Amino acid sequence: MHYLYLMINLPYAFDALEPVIDKQTMEIHYGKHYKGYVDKLNQVLESATEFHQKSLEELLRDLDSLPTSIHDGVRDFGGGVYNHELFWQVMSPENQKPSDDFMKKIDRDFGSFDSFKESMNKIAKTLFGSGWAWLCTDKGGNLIVMGTKNQDSPLTEGLYPLLCIDVWEHAYYLKYQNRRPEFVDNFWDIINWRYVEKRYENRKNNI
Ligand SMILES: [Fe+2]
Repeated sequence: MHYLYLMINLPYAFDALEPVIDKQTMEIHYGKHYKGYVDKLNQVLESATEFHQKSLEELLRDLDSLPTSIHDGVRDFGGGVYNHELFWQVMSPENQKPSDDFMKKIDRDFGSFDSFKESMNKIAKTLFGSGWAWLCTDKGGNLIVMGTKNQDSPLTEGLYPLLCIDVWEHAYYLKYQNRRPEFVDNFWDIINWRYVEKRYENRKNNI
């Protein structure tokens, strides 16, 4: 098989995010779930050679223009790859806070950090079934929170994702069982705000 996409390395050890996310959850999430999405995306695109030069970001952004033979596979497995690669990178063992500059943008668009956090938490805690909570930016640099089902990507809706919380059960069930709200509350301690801010600065080249 032609491996068009390769797994990225985790930027920290499997146990680095403890106690918020335990080592075994990270090992299974990365080594089984994420690997599964990468393998299946490679299968979907194996014979669709005309799309091999496109980045995953381009494929997801232009999802509606893809042929039916690869549309659902790119949406589900391509989304799974992209979303998880963002998820790995927006987490950090350091306890970071948003910079003053980024905090000003949060205040401008949500009124306050608490109000932003409440909106994001509400989506993450109440999204029915499997999916993701997102902080995104639009072309104008406005910040927006939203949820998506399954592995759907905000890129397909013309938005650029900056931060995400995986609320599929596989992201938290071993440690938190059915207590998704507790996982979401704890997630705020492991956000890599430097990476989120870097994506915000890079957005102009990506949407
Ligand atoms: Fe996941």
